[in-house]
Amino acid sequence: MRNMFILALLSVASFAQEAAKPHEVEKLAPYYPTPVAIVTKMLELGNLHSGEKMYDLGSGDGRIVIMAAQKFHADSVGVEYDYDLCRQSESAIRKLGLVSKAQIIQGDIFAQDYSSADLVTVYLLPSSNDKVRPMLEKQLKKGARVVAHDFEFRGWIPVKTETIDDDGEGRSHTIFLYQR
Ligand SMILES: C[S@@+](CC[C@H](N)C(=O)[O-])C[C@H]1O[C@@H](n2cnc3c(N)ncnc32)[C@H](O)[C@@H]1O
Repeated sequence: MRNMFILALLSVASFAQEAAKPHEVEKLAPYYPTPVAIVTKMLELGNLHSGEKMYDLGSGDGRIVIMAAQKFHADSVGVEYDYDLCRQSESAIRKLGLVSKAQIIQGDIFAQDYSSADLVTVYLLPSSNDKVRPMLEKQLKKGARVVAHDFEFRGWIPVKTETIDDDGEGRSHTIFLYQR
């Protein structure tokens, strides 16, 4: 009887330990912000409209989410695991009075639901796009758009590609538009 009690206790303890384990976030890209001029081009290419739902996967300092809400009047959400970048984004959103339109989820890109998205923006590494692709294929509704900065989604055919030869700082950028 006592042995059974100890076994039960041990299994409860190991379950509790398992539950308490912090979820390991796979780092899909380092923080490297998209220049503001390119953010505008990405949202224009993505044909973002007022009231549409937009997600930025790995939202950095929140610049894409902020512009989507402020200039395009979209309902925008950024997903970012980095604590400081999330606080920085939220502070900018508050200062700009965009709290009702722009939101940051501090968490893992892979742990969210994108089924309501009209537009998804992505600036991750090529191998990371490969990893994110099956999730988007599964979750995105028909007609949803994806705009990728600099790195294409291998295996998808873009409906449009735009190259910006000089972003003002001598760097060229390519953006890819996909539609589900
Ligand atoms: C290249 S930066 C792009 C930032 C922003 N989207 C932009 O274009 O300015 C990639 C961002 O993805 C974030 N990131 C990487 N892996 C992530 C993950 N698994 N979950 C959430 N954020 C992630 C990084 O912290 C970084 O801020």
